[in-house]
Amino acid sequence: MDNRPIGFFDSGIGGVTSIPYIMKMLPEERIIFYGDTARTPYGSKSPDTIQAFSMQIADFLVKKNVKMIVIACNTVSSVAVPKLREKYPDIPIIGCITPTAKEVSKIVKKDANIGIIATRGTVNAGVYQKRIEEMRTDVNVFSKACPALVPLIEEGIIEHEIMDMTVKYYLDDFIKENNIGTLVLGCTHYPLIKKSINKLYPGLEIFSSSKEVAKAVEMELTQREMMAEKKEGKDEFYASDLSETFVALIEKILGQEKETLQIGFEDLDI
Ligand code: DGL
Repeated sequence: MDNRPIGFFDSGIGGVTSIPYIMKMLPEERIIFYGDTARTPYGSKSPDTIQAFSMQIADFLVKKNVKMIVIACNTVSSVAVPKLREKYPDIPIIGCITPTAKEVSKIVKKDANIGIIATRGTVNAGVYQKRIEEMRTDVNVFSKACPALVPLIEEGIIEHEIMDMTVKYYLDDFIKENNIGTLVLGCTHYPLIKKSINKLYPGLEIFSSSKEVAKAVEMELTQREMMAEKKEGKDEFYASDLSETFVALIEKILGQEKETLQIGFEDLDI
């Protein structure tokens, strides 16, 4: 039993999409979330920069006495997990790619055509493809970087024709040419546009890294006997740019008014 909070972070707002799953699965866990909204998106930045930013955020979470760090960002998960584990060997660090790849590999049928959509950084790192192909040699994996989606989501342009057009711009040919039947939302921002994707491509089987990372947290806490017995205090949400959009998206994702949440600015000495 361990009542300390769990630390989550993302390059921006997207990682918050995994929090409702945690709240439902593990209601006694307290959450400290950090979104690096001043420096988002990470998806087009170099691995060195992403690693350096991630170290700063992990330092902040460790000072908050978290019992576990959850990288609720695929881009960071694809390039920074080994470095973070090296720096903090005593803190469990969970990324979102391996749990998602495992779940997909467990469920898809032979000869399935799996599409991974993600940021440029995640696609270039090729970790999804590698993990799935390590577990399944009888499926085909295709990846597509969709760099314009994160800025639109961060701007709150979500249920809108501009979003539908952007999704079509990236996915129409990708899905048709590769005969994709299974789509992995390899970016924690994308669950926010799942409705658009469902509407445009109703037959797709969709996996979300936000959900899979939450399931991995539950499993890890259970195995290590680190579940919280009682939630002590409020969840905390920090951002390096405390914009109105950040606050509005948190309210939308969590379905709670900002007055009920503890939201703060933290610049990590940037
Ligand atoms: N949420 C991040 C991810 O899962 C991407 C956002 C960004 O490009 O910073 O990859």
